[in-house]
Amino acid sequence: MLRASTLLLLLLLSNLVTANELVSLKEKYKRPDSIPFPEDNPYSAVKAALGKMLFFDPRLSKYQNLSCASCHNPSFGWEGALPRSAGSENTLLDRHNPTSLNMAWGTSFFWDGRAKTLEEQALGPIQSDVEMGMQLELLEMRLKNIDGYKKLFKKVFNGDVSANNIAKAIATFERTVVSGLSSFNKWVDGDEAAISEDAKKGFIIFNKKGRCADCHSGWDFTDNEFHDIGLETDDVGRYKIDSSSPKNMYAFKTPGLRNINQRSPYSIETLPGIILHYITGGIKRPSLSDKMHPLLLNKQEIFEITEFLETLQGHDKPMSLPTLPL
Ligand code: HEC
Ligand code: HEC
Repeated sequence: MLRASTLLLLLLLSNLVTANELVSLKEKYKRPDSIPFPEDNPYSAVKAALGKMLFFDPRLSKYQNLSCASCHNPSFGWEGALPRSAGSENTLLDRHNPTSLNMAWGTSFFWDGRAKTLEEQALGPIQSDVEMGMQLELLEMRLKNIDGYKKLFKKVFNGDVSANNIAKAIATFERTVVSGLSSFNKWVDGDEAAISEDAKKGFIIFNKKGRCADCHSGWDFTDNEFHDIGLETDDVGRYKIDSSSPKNMYAFKTPGLRNINQRSPYSIETLPGIILHYITGGIKRPSLSDKMHPLLLNKQEIFEITEFLETLQGHDKPMSLPTLPL
């Protein structure tokens, strides 16, 4: 009897935070004031505008039927509408579409981190047979035959259409795609009424008892690291590109959680479904992250975490579509 009550007390304490602790917790999630751009590809408004056209232009794919935005669709939090997207020949892709939101803060790209920069990343899907299936020389030729593009590349790069410049423009546009101010951030900035009491409790569980912030940390809720969270899968993840550590087996990049409710369905379909997975602690295997532990969360706490996650939706202005050059 005594032991049960001690356990209960410990459980209650594990979710208590002092006012000071709450202030410093909130501090960790403040939105950054500016977007970082790399020195070798600085921001300019015309470059971002050109990148936006390229991002939305299906002429970048072999059959002119698929753009980056087909799979990174602003209406679905810059993901696809289905758990798996199809490429330009209707082949279903092996992996779930990640969001292309808040990429400016990324330190490596793809689920396994195989691209080091956004510039490098952008040329991947264009050339991939199962995605846009386009040869770079062919792409350069096709865009050079579009007068509007020729003029824009001249204006932006003082040069010609080239794969390198295409990648630079797309990456610049992608860096400008940042989730807007959310109710959560209004609360972080001092507006107590911005989110519900349940969401506030959810934020504390997320950081304490739920241990979610061990991986989903920082303003975009990702440590940009790779973890095996113990999901059933045949995909070896990061191990394929780096077999130096057995921990890379089944390890994937922690996705950011901004605008998460707009990004459904996920690898596991619903938010409560995902939390139920974390409660189990995942499949026990040597590669399982040391940060995965079975959790004791009741129904109400699952609800509170979900309420909190929903406050991460940015109040973004609707994304306008670019007029494509002819
Ligand atoms: C047919 C669907 C599809 C198309 C078209 C597509 N992508 Fe992707 N994108 C994906 C998938 C799936 C992944 C994850 C692949 C992986 O990790 O192996 C991905 C990954 C990414 C990532 C990495 C995100 C992260 O968190 O690391 C970025 C950025 C991205 N795509 C941008 C683009 C750009 C730019 C284009 C156009 C040039 C594009 N995508 C075209 C489906 C697509
Ligand atoms: C050990 C690191 C780790 C911990 C701890 C962790 N996550 Fe994750 N999370 C990940 C990784 C990695 C993925 C991507 C897995 C995949 O799709 O294969 C992920 C995916 C997600 C997704 C789906 C996002 C998407 O775009 O598909 C949500 C939502 C999520 N986690 C919420 C949580 C919550 C809530 C907790 C705490 C209860 C938590 N995570 C704890 C690493 C972690």
